[in-house]
Amino acid sequence: MKIFIDTAKLSEIREAISWGIVHGVTTNPSLIKRAMNEVEENLKMEDYIKAILKVAGKGRDVSLEVIGLTEEEMYEQAKKLHNKFGGLFDNVAIKIPINPSLKETFASDFDGLKVTKRLSEENIKVNLTLIMTPEQAILGAIAGAKYVSPFAGRIDDFLRKKAGVDFKKDDYYEAGGRQGFDDNGILSGVDLVEKTVQIFEKYNFKTEIIAASLRNARQVREVALTGAHIATIPFEVLKKMVSHPKTIEGMQKFTEDVVPEYKKLFD
Ligand code: E4P
Repeated sequence: MKIFIDTAKLSEIREAISWGIVHGVTTNPSLIKRAMNEVEENLKMEDYIKAILKVAGKGRDVSLEVIGLTEEEMYEQAKKLHNKFGGLFDNVAIKIPINPSLKETFASDFDGLKVTKRLSEENIKVNLTLIMTPEQAILGAIAGAKYVSPFAGRIDDFLRKKAGVDFKKDDYYEAGGRQGFDDNGILSGVDLVEKTVQIFEKYNFKTEIIAASLRNARQVREVALTGAHIATIPFEVLKKMVSHPKTIEGMQKFTEDVVPEYKKLFD
């Protein structure tokens, strides 16, 4: 499994990459908004993005999202992002929403897929985002996306809201936690990822699955068990993944127990 960091904060990207366990970066407009305090007043957004791409470097894809709502807008924006940034380290993936409609009008429902197909045919890497069902992921794989991003956390939010369960953003959600409401056969965010993985394996789809919208370390473990290719993980969750009180306790004891004869080995 590969790990991406889910942030647009340069400081977090730099630090997480220094840990030696990060294979890529995902951003979205909300994450860029959250990172704005790191964008110095005189620094142009273009230079900030270039700095992210440089820190990530070759071999670590950075997803940058379009903001258009129609096929033509998204295509033009994707080409702009690709032309502006793609040549630097060849590490740009364009994030395209599976369905850019803001309303249930059907007007532009397939525009995300149309753009994915066009960009993929031009060998531009697409990360198809806002995937909430395995069937959306299937369409994305067929359209040629390099990545699809099922949003586990947001599905948990959706299910808990429907079930009338109170929750905090980083609470773990047990699959099938409460019955009696229409869950569309998707029992949790992890279940969404698992079903997507199962389908992709059956058909040998080449598209990689990025388990996204992860809110806690246990979710990371569970999406890893599904066989998802990648988990994109917020900085704070990555930090939690490395810590356990018994590890600290063990370190304290080992440090106390070092005898001088053993210590000498390191002189
Ligand atoms: C990643 O590609 C997504 O944009 C991100 O994981 C969304 O996470 P959120 O649901 O916590 O905002």
